[in-house]
Formats: sequence, C-alpha cells, structure tokens
Amino acid sequence: VIGIGAGDPEYLTVQAVQALRSVDVLFLLEKGADDELAALRRAIVARYVPGGLREVVIEDPPRGRGADAVAAWRAERFALISSALRRERGVAAFLAWGDPSLYDGLITLLEPFSPVVIPGISAVSALAARHGLVLNRVGGSVLITTGRRLAASGFPAEVDDVVVMLDAELAFLGLDGALEIYWGAYLGTPDELLIAGRLGDVREEIARVRSAARERKGWMFDTYLLRRT
Ligand SMILES: C[S@@+](CC[C@H](N)C(=O)[O-])C[C@H]1O[C@@H](n2cnc3c(N)ncnc32)[C@H](O)[C@@H]1O
Repeated sequence: VIGIGAGDPEYLTVQAVQALRSVDVLFLLEKGADDELAALRRAIVARYVPGGLREVVIEDPPRGRGADAVAAWRAERFALISSALRRERGVAAFLAWGDPSLYDGLITLLEPFSPVVIPGISAVSALAARHGLVLNRVGGSVLITTGRRLAASGFPAEVDDVVVMLDAELAFLGLDGALEIYWGAYLGTPDELLIAGRLGDVREEIARVRSAARERKGWMFDTYLLRRT
C-alpha cells in the first residue's frame, strides 16, 4: 500500500517512488470513467515509472447506505480483489491518496494479506504547510474529525484545534464566528484554493468559492483547521 500524497506529484517520498519502480503490477480501484482522481493517480505513476506498470483495474462496486449495505460492499470489494490477486504473480501495489493511515480503507481491506505500508503526505500535512501552520499549540492536542461529526456534535469543548476532513455539509457554517479557519481545497494541485481568517468574516466567501469550484470540476476535496483563539 503506497501513500502517494494528496495531490502534488512531488509529495511522493523517495521510498514511494522506489516501491513503484519495483512492483510487478498496479491494482487500481476505480469508480468509473469520469473519475478525475483516478486520472491524477495515473499521471503521478506515469511521472515516476515512464514505461508504465501493468495495471489491473477493479471497478469499485457501488456502495449503499446503512451498516448492512456497507458490510456487503466491503465483502464484495474484498472478493473482487482477492480473486484478482490470486490470478497475479509477484508484488502488487495499491495506491492510497494522501497517507494510507487517514480515512482510507485499503489497510483494513488488505489486512488478510499483511501489506507493507509506505506513508504519504496527507491533506492535513499539505494544509499545514500551505498555510505555514503548526497544528497544535504548545503542548496542546489536535483533533482530526469529519464534517459530519462536527455538524452533529459542534466544536468539541476539550480541544482548541480541530482539523476537519470529508465535509460534505459545510459544518463550519454553523459554528461560532470567533473561531479562526484555515481552509484549503485541491491542495497540491494546480486548482488549489486557500482562504484563512476569522470564521465570521470568511465563511460566506469559503462557501461561495467552494460551491463554484465544485460546480466547475464536478467534485470537491477540502480540509480545514478550526482554531479557538
Ligand atoms: C477519503 S479521505 C482521504 C484522506 C487521505 N488519505 C489523506 O491522507 O489526505 C478524502 C478527504 O481527504 C481530504 N483531502 C484529500 N486530498 C485533499 C486535497 N488535495 N486537498 C484538500 N483536501 C484533501 C478531503 O477532506 C477529502 O474529503
């Protein structure tokens, strides 16, 4: 399982590049022909393995809602991957966007195969770097959570710094305007967007910029830090 970083091809580590150059086959889990992330992943591989790699493309089965549907989807995915792996010889690579340890299912999915894991630069590291931030305050804690949880439970009382990923519901719109926000979308890519400021001052702008970009590209990846001042 190779972490390929959150967007910029230069986010790949030397270890990741060496691993890509040494594997026999690349497994790609794809959601459909218009999957722009799949195209980005391919471009990253092509940059470091100019001759290309033999590919096994597995169409990611559709995922239903609810615990039973998700369990069925996981089982189906695992069955597809296992049977494809059994047909191959040598070492297979799976690419994890960003770092495989954060909101990525590959390590869990492949656990029965005891995968070797190569870390990558996650969207969290990319966000901090692009805003020139230290995520924690001296000796403090940082919570990484999802937009859904933030929307459901509000800004947690026990921490001052919260990194939010997977936010389809614009959870920041409902929070105290005195918080600071450091927002980044499509980090590390040519479409990168950065906005920072007092939440009450910039949230409408973020919502506007985000919605226009989502409309233009058809998908959105954003991450942000919320900071109690
Ligand atoms: C399924 S998670 C994968 C996270 C990934 N494993 C990582 O380490 O960054 C997808 C979420 O990561 C964040 N993300 C990934 N790439 C990003 C990028 N280039 N810019 C902003 N956010 C990104 C977004 O919050 C997105 O909803």
